[in-house]
Amino acid sequence: MRAAVIGGIGSWLPPGLVSNDDLADRMDTSDAWIRTRTGIRTRYFVPPGMPTSRLAAEAGARALESAGTADADAVVLATTTPDRPCPASAPEVARRLGLTGVPAFDVSAVCTGFLYALTAAAGMIASGAAEQVLVIGAEAFSTIVDPHDRSSAVVFGDGAGAVVLRAGDPGEPGALGRIVLGSDGSLADLITVRAGGSERPHPEADPGRSDPADRYFSMRGREVFQHAVTRMSQSAREALAHTGWRPGDVDRLVGHQANLRILHAVAEQLDIPVERLVVHLDRVGNTAAASIPLALAHAHATGDLVPGARVVLAAFGGGATWGATALTWPSLKAA
Ligand code: ACO
Repeated sequence: MRAAVIGGIGSWLPPGLVSNDDLADRMDTSDAWIRTRTGIRTRYFVPPGMPTSRLAAEAGARALESAGTADADAVVLATTTPDRPCPASAPEVARRLGLTGVPAFDVSAVCTGFLYALTAAAGMIASGAAEQVLVIGAEAFSTIVDPHDRSSAVVFGDGAGAVVLRAGDPGEPGALGRIVLGSDGSLADLITVRAGGSERPHPEADPGRSDPADRYFSMRGREVFQHAVTRMSQSAREALAHTGWRPGDVDRLVGHQANLRILHAVAEQLDIPVERLVVHLDRVGNTAAASIPLALAHAHATGDLVPGARVVLAAFGGGATWGATALTWPSLKAA
């Protein structure tokens, strides 16, 4: 059986570094509140007009370079913030990378998006439809957050991370284990942008049917917190069961970088020491679909993630959606 193997990794952050103090100048919050409630110290925001496809292409180019190739048979983009509602942004990413002509599509599963995108790409490889797929998580989340909603505005950031998946052997380092995924549509209102879809028009298009705030992202943070801990722990446990590893065998737990307290709670539920958590949210905030590949790229570049390390990935996001997988970290060129 063919496995999907990570053969390259890359990431990119936009130029606008925003500190907690910068946010405290704009709204009623403080560095101390943000740090103690979330663990976040800085994040990056795109400058006006910089689309998600640009972030995705920058990260994608670096992942291809790390894999030692300029080619991919397909581009899969996980994002909550496509350049436009229609068409998908992945074809534009492929064009920016000189890959016009290959299949390219978006995957929408908010913070679980990267794991869903890996699943789609791994399926293409397993079926023989592709030998090598570029999988990107990219977000310009600052473009959908209400700048006056202090509970969301302090949490999210922009950025992109990417991996190249290639056909390989299930036993080799970098081979993705079973990807465990799930969803619960009854929780759709927990994490949502209400307007601008087929259900509810954009407020400017029909002021009678939509509230102006409905164009922005909204999150019921406290409830999300509980579901995130439960679902990330459950799916990580299932992914571990498929590999036969025990929690003590895990060298690095790479959870969706939503909140440091969530990551600690998940580690505790799984009986994995908190020292084994990969933490990147302190620098970049919650970057939704970009969060796991950004954390992986950073940990790889800094040597926190070494070849042979047994790694578990787990995420929870809008939908609600969740998922996890496990792999042995391969030897890769940093880019
Ligand atoms: N600065 C100061 N005070 C604030 C801020 C802020 N930025 N934001 C909220 N507060 C206040 C609230 O108004 C509230 O005050 P009150 O008690 O007087 O009403 C108090 O702080 C506590 O608010 P909570 O919302 O209960 O704060 P909490 O500790 O839950 O932290 C947060 C909020 C950070 C959003 C947290 O709930 C969280 O991280 N939730 C999970 C997010 C997550 O997992 N997301 C992943 C999926 S997201 C996706 O898929 C896109």
